[in-house]
Amino acid sequence: MADEVKKEVPARFKVTIDNITIEVAPGTTILNAARQIGGDVTPPAMCYYSKLQGSGGKCRTCLVEVEAGSAADPRPMPKLVASCRTAVMDGMVLKNITSERVLDARAGVVEFLLLNHPLDCPICDQAGECHLQDLGYEHGKEGTRYEFKRRTFEKEDIGPYIQLHMTRCILCYRCTYVADQLTDNRVHGVLERRDHAEISTYISKAIDSDFSGNMIDVCPVGALTDKTFRFKNRVWFTKPVDAHRDCENPKCCGKVTLWQRGDDVLRVTARKDQWGEVQSFDGKPGWICNTCRFDKKHSNDWVVEGPTKVSRHSVISQGHYIDMQMPKEIMPEVMGGRAPKLLMDIQDISEVNSVDIGLLPGPATSKTFEKKEQ
Ligand code: SF4
Ligand code: FES
Repeated sequence: MADEVKKEVPARFKVTIDNITIEVAPGTTILNAARQIGGDVTPPAMCYYSKLQGSGGKCRTCLVEVEAGSAADPRPMPKLVASCRTAVMDGMVLKNITSERVLDARAGVVEFLLLNHPLDCPICDQAGECHLQDLGYEHGKEGTRYEFKRRTFEKEDIGPYIQLHMTRCILCYRCTYVADQLTDNRVHGVLERRDHAEISTYISKAIDSDFSGNMIDVCPVGALTDKTFRFKNRVWFTKPVDAHRDCENPKCCGKVTLWQRGDDVLRVTARKDQWGEVQSFDGKPGWICNTCRFDKKHSNDWVVEGPTKVSRHSVISQGHYIDMQMPKEIMPEVMGGRAPKLLMDIQDISEVNSVDIGLLPGPATSKTFEKKEQ
């Protein structure tokens, strides 16, 4: 009898999200089914991270509406569900961006996430690659209705390379899963409960595992930042290139993104996919060790493969330099073949600079007097 029931389960489940139907393997979550469609149909995920077991179910940004539960029971579900934690059913019909309820609830979730999160993007190292910043712009409402004191924390150095700025943490728990699943001993976690909850190393114990730097990569906001990169540059001014090296650590994939300014390597990170998660290589997540991340900061430490494709919707992709097309040079054409310098070298013609710095005689200007009085 049990065998007969098993045979009835289709090998692929048909699921419709925002009017697009696909077939996925049984057991796939709604979020991962939506990722197979891609684009705007995919709900945002601030705590789920496909490479970290057990992640998800904390932030509620991935809520979707279930219009029909399954082909067998097509009744709608009364409440919105967390798509990262809910498996699809055959014949399920879902709404993400086509649901007013979802968009309204998500705006509410973003407002909650921003209750205590400071709006310090102009000075935050995560700006430009912060998923909360993206969400804020997409769903945020101007102003806040929160009238109470925001909770704040002192910045904490957790180990030589990582700084924790707890004030920005949204308690997604991803970094604790990295510590659990990638490092030998987890020495940090979430202390306290409710609005007192905080990530900490407890008795300020330093995190010094070989793979601790991956916490920085999984943190969706600027709560965990790379101390070797802090305040060095804005990410959108840097040029990301894919590179690799033969790392002696067997657990390290050695494939990275170098964030360069000129020839200087300002930062090394794992390579990210379109969901902002670390890419997989040969079926394994491409985590990198701290030696590759923090100690190999010369371009000759690496074999450069070429410019990184920034596929995620991000301000970084504004610095297009792949397939860049130079505008047509039209100056000689409009100037009848003459070189622009002949007409436009204003210093040579006006001698303004030379006069102002007092090298040549000329009419005294207020600027000249200021300079002489100094
Ligand atoms: S520090 Fe970052 S990764 Fe860790 S719980 Fe907070 S937001 Fe998540
Ligand atoms: S991503 Fe689903 S609850 Fe956070």
